[in-house]
Amino acid sequence: MRVAFVQFPPTFGDVSRNVSRALELAEGVEAELYVFPELFASGYQFQSRDELKTFAEPVAGGFTVDSLVTWCRPRAAFACAGVAEADGDALYNSAVLVGPDGLRGVYRKAHPFRREKELFDQPDEDLFEVYDIGYARVGMMICFDWVFPEVMRILALRGAQIILHPAALVLPYCPAAMVTRCLENRVFAVTAGRTGTEDRWGEATTFVGCSQIVNPRGEVLLRLDDDEAAVAVDINPAEADDKFVTPENDVFADRHVELYSELLRPK
Ligand code: ACM
Repeated sequence: MRVAFVQFPPTFGDVSRNVSRALELAEGVEAELYVFPELFASGYQFQSRDELKTFAEPVAGGFTVDSLVTWCRPRAAFACAGVAEADGDALYNSAVLVGPDGLRGVYRKAHPFRREKELFDQPDEDLFEVYDIGYARVGMMICFDWVFPEVMRILALRGAQIILHPAALVLPYCPAAMVTRCLENRVFAVTAGRTGTEDRWGEATTFVGCSQIVNPRGEVLLRLDDDEAAVAVDINPAEADDKFVTPENDVFADRHVELYSELLRPK
C-alpha cells in the first residue's frame, strides 16, 4: 500500500484555508492512506478554553471531518488528522480516522504537552484502538504521546501494523525516538508534523516539521525538514507481523512481564 503525510504551516484560526491547503497538497500525491498534522485545521495556540470552544467541532458532522470524508470518498482513501473536538462541554485534542464510508474512529490525546493541560479535557477511557482498514491494521496517537513508550507498545500488542501520528512537534527529539519505538515494537509509524510559528501566548512556538515514515526495522523511509509538502512511500504492512529482531528473539514473546510490575504503579 502507499502511505502519505502532509506537512504545512496552518494559519491560526483560518479553518477553511487550512483544510483547503492541506487537501490541495494531498491532491498532489496518490496514496491509500494520508496523515495530517495535529490540530491542522484550527492551529495550535488557543489563548483560552473559551477561544478553543469557538473552534472545537463535533467529530460526527463537523466541518473538518466532513471535508476529509468528502475528499476521501471518490479516492477510496483513508485519512487520519488532528482536530479540536467538542463533545458536549468537553474539549479534546483528538485524531480522527476517516475513510470513503465516513468516520471510522476517534482517539483523544492521552498526554497533553505544556499548556494543552489547561485547555483540553483529559480522556479517562482507554482509546488505544486498532482499526482494520482493509489495507492494514492501524492505531492512532498524537504528538507528545511519543515520549510515553506505553502508547505504541499497547497499540502494537493490540495488533496495529501502522501507527498514525498527527503531530505539531516542538522538541527536536521525536524523529530519533520514533526510530526506537518502531524497532522495539516492529511496526511502521507515519508522523505528520507541521511547520510555522505561532505567537499568541506571549511565547512564540516554532514547529519543527520533521514528518517521517519509519519501518519495523527502524529505517527512515522518508523524512522532511521544514518543507511544505505531501510525500508518499510504498510499504508492506505485513512486515509488521514479524516480531523477530533476531532469529531467536521475538520482541513480544521474549518480554518478561513478571519483572515489570513497577510499570503499573503510579509515581
Ligand atoms: C505536542 O505534543 N504538540 C508537542
